Amino acid sequence: MKKIVFVTKKLSFKEIALLEPYFEVISLNSYNELFNHPKFSTAFALLSFVTDPITSTEINNFPTSLKVISNCAVGYNNISINTCQEKNIIVTNTPGVLTNATADLTFALLLALSRRLLEGHKMIIENNFHGWEPDMLLGTELSGKTLGIIGLGRIGLAVAKRAKAFGMDIIYYNRNIRSAELDEKENIYYQPFEELLKSADFISIHTSLNDYSKHLITEKELKLMKKTSFIINTSRGECIKEFDLVEALKNKEIAGAALDVFEFEPKITEALKFFDNVILTPHIGSATFETRGKMVEIACQNLINVALDKEPISRVV
Ligand code: DGY
Repeated sequence: MKKIVFVTKKLSFKEIALLEPYFEVISLNSYNELFNHPKFSTAFALLSFVTDPITSTEINNFPTSLKVISNCAVGYNNISINTCQEKNIIVTNTPGVLTNATADLTFALLLALSRRLLEGHKMIIENNFHGWEPDMLLGTELSGKTLGIIGLGRIGLAVAKRAKAFGMDIIYYNRNIRSAELDEKENIYYQPFEELLKSADFISIHTSLNDYSKHLITEKELKLMKKTSFIINTSRGECIKEFDLVEALKNKEIAGAALDVFEFEPKITEALKFFDNVILTPHIGSATFETRGKMVEIACQNLINVALDKEPISRVV
């Protein structure tokens, strides 16, 4: 008899077929259906997504047959990892394959903010463009500006690479400091957190969500930023306290913000929708045909490896 895997969303990607030779695959409409499914009591595996809150209470109610959770995402803050560890449930993720897609989106947001693309689009569709004007929609050039990257992992580095091509100076803050030689070689320099906030013209967040990074940016940090600087977040919404961001925008303490992720996702803090200098996108950092297919492939391969008693490709615990 094949082992049972539950997939918590219906997927259109062909890569999901990789599971078929090894598993009985049960695809749900949503994670909420899991506990009421008659076959869940014999499930071996779960293929989950960032939208599935796999909490400690739920994991404690999982059947003992459930041995692995393959999260189809690089982030795994939706899963109570400690409880999985206590219960010997393997957790895997999909790192690496979404680096370029997320870095591209970060850069798209950075450019859209600095060159006021949405304001221009709005002006045209609302029939308010009546011809070229010398001082219409003036923006900020990237060349010669400083990009401050918070969290210099794979995605942070990929953003740095793009920023270099635009002639930006790059500073970063990371809890694990790299060698000064490497900084020198790559021309990307470490700055203490507060110094980065004070000196960057654009700040881009690329840290994972954990106890340290939750509300990393609050009123205090926003007040340290220059009035002319922008903040971009394509990591996790809870890194920024949105109430404080709204206040900083209202008081013109910063020049603008672009958010692909939200503190109360999928709910959006209403006030954010009414600023011309704020761009909001619906958590699409990894949303390219190429990347999403690869994420599903890795998520499946991780499950297959566990079913075959092999080490998964990307194990979290
Ligand atoms: C991730 O992988 O963590 C993204 O946020 C969802 O693709």
